[in-house]
Amino acid sequence: MMVCEYKPGLEGIPAAQSSISYVDGQKGILEYRGIRIEELAAKSTFLETAYLLIWGELPSKEELKAFEEEVRLHRRIKYRIRDMMKSFPESGHPMDALQASAAALGLFYSLRDLHNPAYIRDSVVRLIATIPTMVAAFQLMRKGNDPVKPRDDLDYSANFLYMLNEKEPDALAAKIFDICLILHVEHTMNASTFSARVTASTLTDPYAVVASAVGTLGGPLHGGANEEVIQMLEEIGSVENVRPYVEERLQNKQKLMGFGHRVYKVKDPRAIILQELAEQLFDKFGGDKYYDIAQEMERVVEEKLGHKGIYPNVDFYSGLVYRKMGIPTDLFTPIFAIARVAGWLAHWKEQLAENRIFRPTQVYNGKHEVPYTPLEQR
Ligand code: CMC
Repeated sequence: MMVCEYKPGLEGIPAAQSSISYVDGQKGILEYRGIRIEELAAKSTFLETAYLLIWGELPSKEELKAFEEEVRLHRRIKYRIRDMMKSFPESGHPMDALQASAAALGLFYSLRDLHNPAYIRDSVVRLIATIPTMVAAFQLMRKGNDPVKPRDDLDYSANFLYMLNEKEPDALAAKIFDICLILHVEHTMNASTFSARVTASTLTDPYAVVASAVGTLGGPLHGGANEEVIQMLEEIGSVENVRPYVEERLQNKQKLMGFGHRVYKVKDPRAIILQELAEQLFDKFGGDKYYDIAQEMERVVEEKLGHKGIYPNVDFYSGLVYRKMGIPTDLFTPIFAIARVAGWLAHWKEQLAENRIFRPTQVYNGKHEVPYTPLEQR
């Protein structure tokens, strides 16, 4: 067997062959099925982009209508899921609530008919449709309120914001939210997608696949960074404090949240669009002092770390967009998951098409032939 050099974090090691998305980290290019994200953000919708990723082509008018309709019809969650969520502690993190709820869906749909296209479609639709409902339901229930039923006359993003805030959203906010979902839906072999593919490779059900990916997304080095960015901006508090804050963190060898990326060595193309979206919201609803802090931070970090290729990533400006929409900070990562579920499912489907169980090797650096010491001698 060929012996490969050990690479911490599997940096640079291909884990799959995939035609779902493509990143050029030097030029700052991200494509979904070959289409640049700038174009999709300007012209597509989240559900259309999800269809593109999962089934490989943009849908025809009829295909899109049918998909939207199926998703609309599956938005409701079973009362047993709601009851289960009611017993979750209010202080628990919404990502943990989401992971548990996604896994619980598998209890109701335990069939594993993985070669049946109807089963695949049904699972895709159910997961994309119900994850937003579960996120909104937990948000209301942890405040002691009953969850709000989905509204069939609202499209995907508007309905989520309605279920979250119990009022119909502003049209610009709903449109911008939908674009945010497009920007977060897929990103090649990141940690949570890898996790999804590993779980998929055991031929378990798609609910377990999504639950394991949700668990992986939650960490602060991955999707959880968007929450920490807002906490960091709060801690900095003013534009004048930016430089001393950055210098102190760097001196203490601490990471600056929302900066840096394993693949991008330039500003993340998603951060560029998210910054524009934040500005659109500020123009309509008034500015945010954290935006001034963020812009100053981008300047200082570029000055200090630009030579290392460290620039804002997707998580740097997304929190400012959600904050302006009145969304609580700890829902930022669940919202990332609402989008990314479609990317994970595209990878689930691709993994099943040419499956081989993941079973990497390791470099053993422990002892051998160690004698057993009886308990009384220890
Ligand atoms: N702040 C300060 N220094 C940094 C940062 C940062 N945010 N990111 C990387 N570096 C430095 C790091 O200290 C190291 O320096 P040196 O070579 O002198 O020791 C060098 O850059 C390489 O860093 P690394 O941690 O080995 O890089 P990685 O590819 O393993 O990690 C990363 C990538 C995203 C985990 C990392 O940049 C990071 O921790 N960023 C902050 C957390 C964050 O914003 N995460 C969101 C990532 S994008 C969206 C997502 O995946 O969900």
